[in-house]
Amino acid sequence: MVRPMSADQPNVLGIETSCDETAAAVVTGDGRILANLVLSQLDEHRPYGGVVPEIAARSHLDHIDRLVEQAMAESDLDFAALDGVAVTAGPGLIGGVFVGVMTAKAIALAWDLPFLAVNHLEGHALTARLGSDLDFPYLLLLVSGGHCQLLAVEGVGRYRRLGGTIDDAVGEAFDKTAKLLGLGYPGGPAVERAAAGGDPEAFALPRPMLGRPGLDFSFSGLKTAVRHAAAGAGLLDKPDGDAARRADLAAAFQAAVGDILAERCGKALDHFARHYGRPGPLVVAGGVAANARLRQRLDAAAGAAGSRLIAPPPALCTDNAAMIAWAGVERLRLGLTDPLDFAARPRWPLEDLQAPAAAAGPR
Ligand code: KG4
Ligand code: ZN
Repeated sequence: MVRPMSADQPNVLGIETSCDETAAAVVTGDGRILANLVLSQLDEHRPYGGVVPEIAARSHLDHIDRLVEQAMAESDLDFAALDGVAVTAGPGLIGGVFVGVMTAKAIALAWDLPFLAVNHLEGHALTARLGSDLDFPYLLLLVSGGHCQLLAVEGVGRYRRLGGTIDDAVGEAFDKTAKLLGLGYPGGPAVERAAAGGDPEAFALPRPMLGRPGLDFSFSGLKTAVRHAAAGAGLLDKPDGDAARRADLAAAFQAAVGDILAERCGKALDHFARHYGRPGPLVVAGGVAANARLRQRLDAAAGAAGSRLIAPPPALCTDNAAMIAWAGVERLRLGLTDPLDFAARPRWPLEDLQAPAAAAGPR
């Protein structure tokens, strides 16, 4: 059966299962989020202080069908009113990715819908266009648990990497700092909360790569410095120890990250303006972009470079399925659908995406 697509305003169901949130959402072509459900597995992973891939995959399997049903019910659409099914097909914890991909393929097959294999990072990268009139190109700082990259976003499927971390991701540094300071899991929000009551000047921490040529980042030295500072202040392995000193160290860590991100983004904005002949804008995406203090720092850096910061609402920065549905909308409009034998990918750099010009036309 050939389905007439609702012009360029498709309704897309999105599914996300690549890490520790099971998520389903329905988004319209004009950027309305009809349903956006995120089921966090935090409690299941908390005893281990991090995500356990086998537990994550099993939990996705337990919940995804019900969550999809619930998202469809909330959206007030039935499956026949959808124009496509989008799913995170990588990168991520492969057991979980399989669960989402199999679910999406089954729905696509049963309802004869176009299948859209979305790169999780492209979901983050395009979120700022959901419900806004943001045009290409823009500069993107992608900061999440597994990634820290600066990219020029030239279009759907068209990413130019300008720089990235040479060791740890920023979110990882937040998570490790939280673990070290006994602040709990997940680390990013815990560090942000603790830092709010701390004095960032109380500890002197390094700013790796600051002032260096290029647009790369490094966070492992900062992480080691936090460990030494915590040991020196007697904060290690004492969960009930000095809360004020702990808050100071969290604040010092967050300030160091802020300095590094702000400096690198300032440089990247200069590069962007020279290359594209226009000043940004700077878009920030990924879980770490939920951090209010870091958003302030990036806003100031963008202002100083004659640009502006665009940051999606915090709930759309951390993992969710609305961003996957929206990337699906954008890809569907360009005819970038995928075959049902598309294989899930544990690794999938954004630069490997197929640019629309080179892709097959609508099928
Ligand atoms: O994008 P995301 O939800 O999942 C990945 O694709 O990785 O990002 C998760 C990361 C975690 O490392 C988490 O600690 C961090 O984002 N994060 C934050 C905040 N909220 C989440 N980091 C700093 N401040 C926050 N408020
Ligand atoms: Zn993510």
